[in-house]
Amino acid sequence: MAKGKVYVFDHPLILHKVTILRNKNTGHKEFRELVEELAMLMAYEVTRSHPTREVEVETPLAKAKGRSIAGQEIAVVPILRAGLVMEAGITRLIPTARVGHIGIYRDPESLEPVPYYSKLPEDIAEREVLILDPMLATGGSTVSAIDTLKQKGCRTIRVLAIIAAPEGIEKVHNAHPDVEIYTAAVDSHLNDHGYIVPGLGDAGDRLFGTK
Ligand code: PRP
Ligand code: URA
Repeated sequence: MAKGKVYVFDHPLILHKVTILRNKNTGHKEFRELVEELAMLMAYEVTRSHPTREVEVETPLAKAKGRSIAGQEIAVVPILRAGLVMEAGITRLIPTARVGHIGIYRDPESLEPVPYYSKLPEDIAEREVLILDPMLATGGSTVSAIDTLKQKGCRTIRVLAIIAAPEGIEKVHNAHPDVEIYTAAVDSHLNDHGYIVPGLGDAGDRLFGTK
């Protein structure tokens, strides 16, 4: 199916929270909290192999050796709107991360991505970039975001999507085989309106209460 790499999380906490997220009876407040928590757990897993360097720290009693995050600095790039809540979770965990914003909406008829906003850190090309969007459906929005980031010179890009459709994974990997995708679930398919089945419905509307 896919040319590039897809990592599907199997941590029990992640699976548990995704199940509550899918439930149509989960309200906006809990939905937002879960997306934030899931983003933190996903970032925890994604950064597992991040390089560290030895540092010295002085405790109240003595000097101790410790380790600090090293290597490429991180930028998180939420796709508006729904990615914003993932960003809130991840920046609690990685407060030094720079944040770029990319605004894209899906045309409801054609399902084609319509980019409308982009504001990125000046040094984004030097950073490892995590694209955040709860839903990877047709893949159009994610491909468009990756196109924008590559045009700015970004070389290390990873996608964090809570739920992905096989169609979206394939589209991203056909366009950008170097980009790794991290997700908590690969669902069955897209329906005629481009919604992921079984999915969780419209992530933006459920997060922000707009419907
Ligand atoms: C949703 C979702 C993704 C996109 C996924 O956003 O948050 O950004 O659709 O679909 P795709 O993979 O087919 O491109 P939407 O377009 O509804 O915009 P919104 O976040 O502003 O509601
Ligand atoms: N966007 C969403 O919010 N949900 C889907 O299932 C597909 C696109």
